[in-house]
Amino acid sequence: MSVTTSFPKNQIKVLLLEGISPTALDVFATEDFQIEALKTALAPEELGKRVRDVHILGIRSKTQVTAEVLAGAKRLLTLGCFCIGTNQVDTAFANQRGIPVFNAPFSNTRSVAELMIAEIVGLARQLGDRSREVHAGRWRKVALGCFEIRGKVLGIVGYGHIGRQLGVLAEAMGMRVLFFDRTAKLPMGNNVEAGSLEEVLAQADFVSLHVPETPQTREMIGAAELARMKQGSYLLNASRGTVVVIPALADALRSGHLAGAAVDVYPEEPATNGEGFMTPLQGLPNVLLTPHVGGSTEEAQAAIGREVAVSLTKFVNAGTTTSAVNFPVIEPPVNPGTHRILNVHRNVPGVLRDINRIVSDMQANIQAQILATDANIGYLLMDLDQDVSVDVQKAIASLETSIRTRILF
Ligand code: NAI
Repeated sequence: MSVTTSFPKNQIKVLLLEGISPTALDVFATEDFQIEALKTALAPEELGKRVRDVHILGIRSKTQVTAEVLAGAKRLLTLGCFCIGTNQVDTAFANQRGIPVFNAPFSNTRSVAELMIAEIVGLARQLGDRSREVHAGRWRKVALGCFEIRGKVLGIVGYGHIGRQLGVLAEAMGMRVLFFDRTAKLPMGNNVEAGSLEEVLAQADFVSLHVPETPQTREMIGAAELARMKQGSYLLNASRGTVVVIPALADALRSGHLAGAAVDVYPEEPATNGEGFMTPLQGLPNVLLTPHVGGSTEEAQAAIGREVAVSLTKFVNAGTTTSAVNFPVIEPPVNPGTHRILNVHRNVPGVLRDINRIVSDMQANIQAQILATDANIGYLLMDLDQDVSVDVQKAIASLETSIRTRILF
């Protein structure tokens, strides 16, 4: 038997929640997918009903995608988080079900870096305090304790996407940049790599944190580290709230050891906008407090829409899992004139042997075969002769170790 048509694109159903950017809809529309886009999140029960015949689900941070929801979503091929975090999804369960989850880790890099430049200038010129005073009708023109940032040392901790981007922008503003990362990184421009965190803390006029949240970065900056910082220096944190011990930072500001701080992230943040947020940093002089808006710009939202929609589309069309957060990564080339079969299986010994036996028993010709694995699953991609591909697909799907098997083209 041979059937050479794959699932028609115009029958692929996309459900997008939480007002995802129109840039994502543009990507899916070009593919001829059926799109349903809602402005709001859905509670798990309602979501469970709505996703039963959906192939692609797109959410932002408010929709909880539980194991139960995923278990009922029998047709779901892939899931996109149009944001940075993926805590709202049971990604481990999605992995076991063979559903790759994508997010947009880099779309707001530039937005965060620009905010840091604004805050460095804002701290150096005590802009928050001056603005608050004039709003209150108080005219207080001062130069004492206000500085240009030109020639000052910016210490960047965590020289990843944001850290590097910031290093480039800060140099354009005339700053000298010293960075520390736990792994060796190529310095951008004239940025200089420090040998240790201590070196950065001791030399920098401004210390800006850009590390991820890990057990090693938890409370990375506490009383001892703050004491190592230069007298009159500034701390900026737009990474994750748990990286800094907030009461220790408040003490360092109160004592005058630090001349100011800019904080965008907190150990505990409200789930929704509203009144009543409290932090020990409130009311301290020259402290810029923002509600986790580092990456919140219209440009970043548009870029997130494009980035995630393209990842989802590439997975559906070609099996590509580059940048999936819970899945072995494959980035396959297209082999014209072949049929592509994708198989997700439990990662136990002997699976590849069984699959290859099926292929050779059916005298199928393998043009290309790529396997990537993680601790739980294997993700196998095979490009085969068209003649036998449906038979091969059925036989592979019936293996006891197979989780999902799909013909692409
Ligand atoms: P990234 O993964 O590109 O870079 C992080 C860097 O930190 C890597 O180079 C890594 O090697 C380094 N690192 C990890 N552990 C370290 C340690 N113990 N000591 C020194 N360096 C260490 O991440 P990206 O995109 O630059 O983001 C950085 C942080 O910014 C993340 O925490 C992210 O969640 C946060 N973020 C905050 C936003 C906001 O709205 N405030 C928006 C976007 C990201």
